[in-house]
Amino acid sequence: MIELDIIRTVEAREGLAGLPDQSVDCVLTSPPYWACRDYGVAPAQWEDGSSSALGLEPDFEKYLDHLIEIFNGIKRVLKDEGTLWVNLGDVYASGTRARWRGPLSHHLPNTATGTLDTANPPEKRKRAHGLEFHRFPDKTLCMIPERFALRMLQKGWILRNRIAWVKPNFLPASVGDRFACSWEYLFLFSKSERYFFDIDAVRVPHSAPERAGAGWESRTHSPRPVVAGTRLPPRPGEPDTLHRPGKNPGDCWSIPTRGTQFPHPAIFPEALCERPISAGCPVGGIVLDPFAGSGTACVVAKRLGRRYLGFEVNPIFADYARQRLQNTPTAAPIPAPPSSPSDVPQTTSDREAA
Ligand SMILES: C[S@@+](CC[C@H](N)C(=O)[O-])C[C@H]1O[C@@H](n2cnc3c(N)ncnc32)[C@H](O)[C@@H]1O
Repeated sequence: MIELDIIRTVEAREGLAGLPDQSVDCVLTSPPYWACRDYGVAPAQWEDGSSSALGLEPDFEKYLDHLIEIFNGIKRVLKDEGTLWVNLGDVYASGTRARWRGPLSHHLPNTATGTLDTANPPEKRKRAHGLEFHRFPDKTLCMIPERFALRMLQKGWILRNRIAWVKPNFLPASVGDRFACSWEYLFLFSKSERYFFDIDAVRVPHSAPERAGAGWESRTHSPRPVVAGTRLPPRPGEPDTLHRPGKNPGDCWSIPTRGTQFPHPAIFPEALCERPISAGCPVGGIVLDPFAGSGTACVVAKRLGRRYLGFEVNPIFADYARQRLQNTPTAAPIPAPPSSPSDVPQTTSDREAA
């Protein structure tokens, strides 16, 4: 029996070890990025014999090994028809240390005192951890998210989307010899070719030309059988190919970041969690975030009528997540699910060739 609707103060692998096989419907998470921040987490012991806090490994290959160790555990607890959503950022090589490609690191709460650690600035802490590498020439973008995705494919995961999370309010950068970084990856993985995906829950309005019947979707999509109840019947004279409830939102999402603030330096915007949970987890299903931080994925899961479970190793962040969840209203009663099995929105494979 899993204890649900809680944030556990626990290391991700330990939390995962306590879950039965195939027990969660959806995992939505953002692990610490490599060489970015010190979250005040004690070094962990890894299968390869090394010891480091995740993200503070001296070498990004080791970081990827450790991520894969954790995601092997996630694969075990995720249902075969489940979905996995992972947000990951990149880093530029810079001679003796890695440099974060987004906002600078911020002062973090000291876990012992619960106060801001302003005496020990982030750059000093990075050096104290010996975070150095010489693999690439200075200024090289290391392509950590792509490397992670390729490693996941080697482990049998199916990569379904590389969503670009575009930040319209990205921070101005002082660099003059490249463009500022304004987007990040959100990967969608599945374990199986057939998995739960409710595209109708996340459709967006058609543009005016599409509504007029001349748009991309109506020109290029041939009529296909659709799951009953997910599409309105065509009006007289309207092409049968236009989804009147709206179109597929595509894989480029413009969502502003939240201000980076105490007590957590890397809070997801809630809007980034809404589509993954609405499309990738059935109502009443279980959403897990093994790197819960301030608990945003769990907050959105609760708001959207899903069960949730969060693991967060830093007790200050875990407490903050619990407070946020206490202040989050439970979803309004959700209409009963459709009774006929053919009414259940199920898999992309039903409607999409690849
Ligand atoms: C990128 S942040 C996640 C932020 C979260 N998405 C939010 O909206 O607040 C990553 C979190 O993972 C936590 N963390 C780091 N290593 C961990 C581990 N081994 N197990 C569990 N949590 C860990 C950090 O303390 C940090 O809060």
